[in-house]
Amino acid sequence: MKWFFSQTILFLMSSCSPLTADRQANITSMLEQQADRVMALGEWEERWQQNKIGFHQPEVHKMLKKNIDKVLNGRTGVRFFFPLCGKAVDMKWLADMGHAVVGVEISEKAIRQFFEENNMTYSEEPVPAIPGAKVYKNSEKNISLYQCNLYNFSNSIEGQFGAIWDRASLVAVNPGDREKYAALIISLMANDCRYLLDTLLYNHDLYQGHGRIWTEEQLVNYIQS
Ligand SMILES: C[S@@+](CC[C@H](N)C(=O)[O-])C[C@H]1O[C@@H](n2cnc3c(N)ncnc32)[C@H](O)[C@@H]1O
Ligand SMILES: *[C@@H]1O[C@H](CO)[C@@H](O)[C@H](O)[C@H]1NC(C)=O
Ligand SMILES: *[C@@H]1O[C@H](CO)[C@@H](O)[C@H](O)[C@H]1NC(C)=O
Ligand SMILES: *[C@@H]1O[C@H](CO)[C@@H](O)[C@H](O)[C@H]1NC(C)=O
Ligand SMILES: *[C@@H]1O[C@H](CO)[C@@H](O)[C@H](O)[C@H]1NC(C)=O
Repeated sequence: MKWFFSQTILFLMSSCSPLTADRQANITSMLEQQADRVMALGEWEERWQQNKIGFHQPEVHKMLKKNIDKVLNGRTGVRFFFPLCGKAVDMKWLADMGHAVVGVEISEKAIRQFFEENNMTYSEEPVPAIPGAKVYKNSEKNISLYQCNLYNFSNSIEGQFGAIWDRASLVAVNPGDREKYAALIISLMANDCRYLLDTLLYNHDLYQGHGRIWTEEQLVNYIQS
């Protein structure tokens, strides 16, 4: 595992070698739906309808737990952004600690399941600035999940954030959307923002054939540029 500090951007990369059998199985399940092709939004929604959500983890992500102090850097009441949030339980974990959470997810089913599985009530309203979008909120815990295309979200909706937790998000972005994704993420970062990125580093000699997997060098150059 390595940390990179670049002014306000902080990378955490978890290296995957050596690949144990179950780790490889998990990665394969996560990538099976991504491969090297473009996933349309409707295909993601379809995945949720069919419960093909091998990427979802029932426990708070180990890397987030392990590195939360570095992310918070002494701050309390931090506003976290979760791009492509799914129904990540990490959102509740952070909200329970008094932080605010904003997520964006295309699947309405994922968002409803998030609140229902965590026994939280929620309100549902349209978002005038984004035609067709809805925001689902539990205001007690300061969790707001936007149901829309990520690329329709901007800093005019919820301002900027003090932290971003990117788990299985950057890696799920279609190759043609990477620049848009990076530009959006950067525009959402407040001056003191810390961006925690969990990504998969592969030994390409051992594991070939998945174009989505970025090398460490590609990633660092990409986000820093
Ligand atoms: C690989 S999953 C990761 C989910 C979550 N971060 C986690 O770790 O469990 C990617 C999620 O992004 C959603 N998604 C993909 N493209 C999107 C887009 N352009 N806008 C909004 N949501 C999108 C999918 O529905 C899916 O739930
Ligand atoms: C694989 O996923 C399962 C279920 O999500 C989890 O219990 C297990 O710890 C994961 N294994 C690894 C090595 O990440
Ligand atoms: C949570 O929401 C309440 C009410 O809107 C607000 O007073 C509080 O500052 C929020 N907490 C965070 C961490 O943003
Ligand atoms: C939600 O409530 C159900 C039924 O009371 C309980 O079994 C479950 O553990 C609760 N889930 C959480 C995340 O608290
Ligand atoms: C949403 O994003 C898509 C793709 O980037 C774009 O074509 C569309 O105009 C956007 N819609 C709104 C309301 O911003």
